[in-house]
Amino acid sequence: MKVLVIGAHGKVGRKITDKLNKHNHQVVAMVRDESQKAAMQKLGATPVLADLEGDISHAFKDKLDAVIFTAGSGGNTGKDKTITVDLQGARKSIDEAVKHKVPRYIMISALGANNADEMPDDMRHYFVAKSEADQYLVQSELDYTILRPGRLTDEGGTGSVNAAESLEDYEDRTISRDDVATAAVLMLDRSNTHKKVVELLNGKTPVKDALAAI
Ligand SMILES: NC(=O)c1ccc[n+]([C@@H]2O[C@H](COP(=O)([O-])OP(=O)(O)OC[C@H]3O[C@@H](n4cnc5c(N)ncnc54)[C@H](OP(=O)(O)O)[C@@H]3O)[C@@H](O)[C@H]2O)c1
Repeated sequence: MKVLVIGAHGKVGRKITDKLNKHNHQVVAMVRDESQKAAMQKLGATPVLADLEGDISHAFKDKLDAVIFTAGSGGNTGKDKTITVDLQGARKSIDEAVKHKVPRYIMISALGANNADEMPDDMRHYFVAKSEADQYLVQSELDYTILRPGRLTDEGGTGSVNAAESLEDYEDRTISRDDVATAAVLMLDRSNTHKKVVELLNGKTPVKDALAAI
């Protein structure tokens, strides 16, 4: 598949880009700074320069089979950036995917996005933005999967997870970025995950089996 990764230079994005390349997918890696291009080429991807706060249409000029959105404004910027990047940027990419008839779209959302009201005051805007972006995707005609990981860690991946449309009983609220990337890549051609939310945490089931059981 030819896959556009939005947020390819991020911590999860770099892992997704690397794993896509190793699974023989062609990667168009969207980055927002010229200096990030070389790292993408090193991972076997073709970089494209675009900023979610501006025009991104040129990133869709090749015929794409899928988009993976893993961008985010991060914790060091203000609430305004959460709106312009996490919400409006995500919506913009969904509009472009629809316009360019990209059949598959995977959104890296966040566990708790469906319960934004219950989140602590200082984080609520983030979960609201994630939730609204997810809802916009649900209303699109795309074959989406909304991947909602718990708190991300930089620990090595185990290749095993706890995944379900709605996770109920769990103690560990974390998941390694590496396992999130593995799930996002393996999910691409899993039609049983189309038009579904997949919540993801550390667990004991091999990612492939966990996704097959969704
Ligand atoms: N942290 C958590 O515990 C947690 C939990 C659940 C879900 N998530 C979500 O998981 C996703 C990946 O997280 P991560 O740790 O990989 O984040 P990250 O390392 O901060 O990566 C985010 C990427 O988005 C890019 N970006 C930011 N603003 C942009 C813009 N205007 N245009 C284009 N790209 C832009 C950043 O570009 P630069 O490299 O240029 O900065 C960066 O490459 C995010 O959507 C995050 O919200 C996080």
